[in-house]
Amino acid sequence: MAETKPRVLFVDDEVELLEGLRTSLRRQRRLWEMTFVADGESGLEELSKAEYDVIVSDMRMPRMDGATFLHHARQRHPGAIRLALTGHADDRLSMRAIPVTQQWLAKPCDRERLVGSIGQALAVRALVGDPQLLQAAGGIAALPSAPRLYTHILDITSDPDCALEDVTKVLERDPGMSARVLQLVNSAYFSLPRNVSHVADAVAFLGLETITQLVLAQEVFTCLEPADEVAGLEADGLQAHSVLTGRIGARIAAELDAVSPEDAFTAGILHDVGLLLFATTAPEELRRSLQRSIEEDRPLAEIERSEEGATHAEAGGYLLATWGLPVALVLAVAHHHEPGGLDDLDLTGVTHVASALATEIEVTQRGAGKASALDLDYLARVGVESRLPDWRALAADEAALGAEEGRP
Ligand SMILES: [Fe+2]
Ligand SMILES: [Fe+2]
Repeated sequence: MAETKPRVLFVDDEVELLEGLRTSLRRQRRLWEMTFVADGESGLEELSKAEYDVIVSDMRMPRMDGATFLHHARQRHPGAIRLALTGHADDRLSMRAIPVTQQWLAKPCDRERLVGSIGQALAVRALVGDPQLLQAAGGIAALPSAPRLYTHILDITSDPDCALEDVTKVLERDPGMSARVLQLVNSAYFSLPRNVSHVADAVAFLGLETITQLVLAQEVFTCLEPADEVAGLEADGLQAHSVLTGRIGARIAAELDAVSPEDAFTAGILHDVGLLLFATTAPEELRRSLQRSIEEDRPLAEIERSEEGATHAEAGGYLLATWGLPVALVLAVAHHHEPGGLDDLDLTGVTHVASALATEIEVTQRGAGKASALDLDYLARVGVESRLPDWRALAADEAALGAEEGRP
């Protein structure tokens, strides 16, 4: 059987740019099957002819713009990962593209970044295509759909006539959610100019993308509620751990240039969503793994991998990928226990550190359990080992703050 290369589709109306891409990506030809077209209509035609793994589309194009093209592309091939190239400060266009874009690339985009981004998109694609992972997650029928309010907001923003106020109105109709979002955005690390007490201001300051992610992060815990409690995994404890991880991650990210605090916060809140998923779809297996992890003093992920063939981290990433969430977020969740393969401290690395530091604190508070799950080799390789004492102090700070505020 002939080996099948992943297929990548590029859509851009600027012929020169398209030619530039073709030339600079020539070396990738042995790895990827690439197609270049100059408008959305041709792009859709290509999609009807072949199955694509990654779609890279320009935003501003005559006739069919990038947001519209990506909408159609999602309908026809929901599994393909969608990347948007944006070269213009066109908020309206970009806003409409939020629901259908899994990664943003600023134009001009250099070769290295583009190749790296497509590589990450293919990693997510491989995650979603892994049959063993699907089985561990409970099969297609068991996978919960994306939370309702989150989906509703995405629907609104995909409307060409949508305004920020429309999103604000929907949020305000849910007072519980509004309160939680406001509580989050008033946390110190979002560094807002003043205390924000209206949803409209929160939306204006943080932007639609961040607000939408915060809504999702909040909603996951209400929509993924396991029918029975799994011994050793209390929903409250997990939520507290997730919020603490988010806060620590955001503080660490604030010190780095490469990762945005908002993304780190969302990734932290969502990083253990796979535990919720397992608690829903495979509670017996999860209970057994948790018990063995304590008895044998081994990391949970290690036991899950040997027993179930996949970890809660990968299953969580899998779930978020099926919901069409951003590539970087999916990878951070999927690899938060094993960030190993990377050379930079990116969102995955920050989430790994934050989750491990949160666990250290919780273990000390409980007085039992594994001491640390930090991947020290990785931290040394990316050159941040010396930052650890400071980060530990900052984590303890956040935990104390949380206790004061009575979270979650
Ligand atoms: Fe985890
Ligand atoms: Fe965790």
